[in-house]
Amino acid sequence: MIRVLFICLGNICRSPAAEGIFTKMVDTEKLTHKLIIDSAGTSHHHAGEPADERMRDHAMERGYDLTSISRGFENPEDFKNFDYLITMDESNYANIVALDRKGEYKHKVFPMVQFCKIHQVKKVPDPYYGGDDGFRLVLDILEDACEGLLKRIRKDHQL
Ligand code: 4NP
Repeated sequence: MIRVLFICLGNICRSPAAEGIFTKMVDTEKLTHKLIIDSAGTSHHHAGEPADERMRDHAMERGYDLTSISRGFENPEDFKNFDYLITMDESNYANIVALDRKGEYKHKVFPMVQFCKIHQVKKVPDPYYGGDDGFRLVLDILEDACEGLLKRIRKDHQL
């Protein structure tokens, strides 16, 4: 199995949306049996909560049912158990890489935006304190990046 973990700060907005979009894409491509897809937050602050209602509503408008429950990143289990650790912004990236003191897992950590083909952006912006447009922009960026990520995984694993 190929194991993908999406990571943001709270695991209630961006990474659950990435998980939902990627899960649906992988299902459409009939690759569900090949991948394990999960998400986590660098903060454990929202652990046990469903995704933010605004994120769930915006995702549902595009046909994505976000069902994940927030959890914090577990060090070192998540480093060991996943092949692709995908971060949403520079802060998530720095926080995750800092947990990997020996640099054993750095090769598995990727900024999500590096997989974008259409959006030329430095990060998936945190929508938490903004309005509807911010949530829509997150979904636009994530749909773009998920396509690129799936292409990359297909190439890496000859799928
Ligand atoms: P996320 O968004 O990292 O995309 O889940 C946030 C969720 C909660 C907070 C910030 C960002 N917060 O400050 O509680």
